[in-house]
Amino acid sequence: MKSLCILGRQPAISLAELESRYGAGAVTPIKQDIALVDRQPDISQLGGTQKIARLYAVTTQKSWKDIEHYLKETLPTQLADMPDKKLHLGISVYGINVSLGQLQKTTFALKRTLKQHGHSIRIVPNKSLALSSAQVLHNHFTDDNGAEIVLAQGKDGQLYIGKTTAVQDIDSYTARDQKRPKRDAKVGMLPPKLAQIIINLAERREQKQVKGSAYEQAPISLTVLDPFCGTGVILQEALLMGFTAYGSDIEKRMIEYTEANLAWLAHSLDLKNLKYTTVTADATTHEWELPFDTIACEAYLGRPFSASPDEKTLNKVMQDVDTIHRKFLKNVARQTEPGFRMCIAVPCWIINEKKHHLKTLDKLEGLGYTRQSFVHAENQDLIYHREGQIVGRELLVLTRNYKS
Ligand SMILES: C[S@@+](CC[C@H](N)C(=O)[O-])C[C@H]1O[C@@H](n2cnc3c(N)ncnc32)[C@H](O)[C@@H]1O
Repeated sequence: MKSLCILGRQPAISLAELESRYGAGAVTPIKQDIALVDRQPDISQLGGTQKIARLYAVTTQKSWKDIEHYLKETLPTQLADMPDKKLHLGISVYGINVSLGQLQKTTFALKRTLKQHGHSIRIVPNKSLALSSAQVLHNHFTDDNGAEIVLAQGKDGQLYIGKTTAVQDIDSYTARDQKRPKRDAKVGMLPPKLAQIIINLAERREQKQVKGSAYEQAPISLTVLDPFCGTGVILQEALLMGFTAYGSDIEKRMIEYTEANLAWLAHSLDLKNLKYTTVTADATTHEWELPFDTIACEAYLGRPFSASPDEKTLNKVMQDVDTIHRKFLKNVARQTEPGFRMCIAVPCWIINEKKHHLKTLDKLEGLGYTRQSFVHAENQDLIYHREGQIVGRELLVLTRNYKS
């Protein structure tokens, strides 16, 4: 079974996540924002994939007329097994030269064809060439009576056709982000999706595949440490992904916030067996008492900026933040074995389109680490950033290379 993964706003980050989770060989980017994966991933465990469609055909149809003809011929067979004959149908198009008007005409033509095969069809009209995650979710396209057909033109010129099987639960993400009782704009608001990506980059599952098993579920014994846990978003997402969570932060108030947020999580989702521990501790010196298998964190980002700082202010902030990161990495190196892998989101200041990286990035080898690279993504593209934001988050995947 092969799946088309429709990637998020920053496709390189989504690709790195898929590669880390399933291995480079399992992932084939077919165009900039779509990848083919050799299985059906669990979308609830991925922060960077918006939709997943089961691939059912790869063809060479060139013109839109040919594509319409092909769909009229094949869709009745593809949908013959749908248990409910009352269907709602939608079409999403990626990278194909077609107008919205033409697409709508085709959708209605397909409705007529499917009617002749005994289906009763409700069309969900496109506002753009691709239906949004919200449209797919709220129109229940992944239910028994929903069919969203995904058409994507690959960079190899082939047409990839799939039927959507899963979509990101944007309502759940919003609740996990905004309904937490304790939030703090000053420490930053890490989106839960990005927290999932950081965890997936930290924990390379592919290495741990047991023969014959897909190893989708993290065993409960694996512990994720977040030494800069703040309000606890990474710990929350690690728990939801099946890990044991271990959090520390230099500020007692943050630990209280994390505790309140995780208690809310357990209560609101009625989760009885969440395993987590928290401690107030300075990440640059603390010796963590409990064993941990990986570190996933958004480290100290320095003060937030709403406008570009002058050079002197920027240099001072960069230096302060750099010292904390350097000491933190030294501290972790003392407590981990060669091969230990982790992912930390560190600040990258973007001013007038120029990127100012943390200086520590040039000293990783000396600190006992190697920055990992990816087959399907360049490290320079792994900076999570929104238009106009001054402090982006650079995603660093590090492994320990020797005992220091
Ligand atoms: C960018 S915030 C992390 C926010 C977090 N991801 C969340 O979900 O709220 C960085 C956190 O690092 C903490 N911090 C700063 N210096 C630290 C240090 N030396 N050791 C441990 N925590 C520190 C701050 O108190 C803050 O909560």
